[in-house]
Amino acid sequence: ERNETRAQPLKGKNVLITGGPTQETIDPVRFFTNHSSGKMGYALAEVAKELGANVTLVSGPVQLDTTSGIELIEVTTSEEMFEAVTTRFQNQDIVIKSAAVADYRPKHVSKQKLKKQDGPLVLELERTKDILKYLGEHKEQQYLVGFAAETENLKEYGKQKLNKKNLDAIVINDVGNKNIGFKSDQNEVHVMTKNGLEKDIPLDSKVEVARNLFEIFIKDMAG
Ligand code: CTP
Ligand code: CA
Repeated sequence: ERNETRAQPLKGKNVLITGGPTQETIDPVRFFTNHSSGKMGYALAEVAKELGANVTLVSGPVQLDTTSGIELIEVTTSEEMFEAVTTRFQNQDIVIKSAAVADYRPKHVSKQKLKKQDGPLVLELERTKDILKYLGEHKEQQYLVGFAAETENLKEYGKQKLNKKNLDAIVINDVGNKNIGFKSDQNEVHVMTKNGLEKDIPLDSKVEVARNLFEIFIKDMAG
């Protein structure tokens, strides 16, 4: 196999990746979610494995198959993702949060199916926990990477997230660009590290983008 002859710079390293959307329950038959397909997270997991890492993929509900050699933890809500990630954080070397986590969830989850009424429905939403921010506040040896989904002021907003969440790197996704991101098999991103590395990764398959990203993270970790 070609893989075995390739360099494995992450051999012996533990890498945790999150991918996909979260689903926030409204009632037994309804939820809030977003357009994330999970493809970027799965591509990152594949490449981490290719580079020799022990890979854990915490995934929201997606229509994708993982290959063997990746530990898949399936979650639904942001709260479940929070639990899955924080309980596994301590022994990780690299954590990459590519999941599209809901920022809000219904304040009250109805045990029964909501019945329609005359007139509009008002749902009260509350903030979910910011998983990445929590990790930034509690990180020790971990190299912590966030994704930023932006439609404007990409680099400025991305840099703000890098600083505010105490990250080592941020991968900025232009989610306003209809040709890439979310459902696509391809992506085009800009990456910035805390140490000042910065790079445009041109349009390519998500696996190729993931390879480029790991190259930067590994270089950045080496200092
Ligand atoms: N994130 C998270 N938990 C949340 C919300 C976001 O862990 N409750 C993570 C995402 O996985 C991503 C990063 O934070 O790695 C940035 O997500 P993004 O939606 O771009 O930014 P937010 O901080 O949520 O800010 P906003 O949506 O207002 O731009
Ligand atoms: Ca958000």
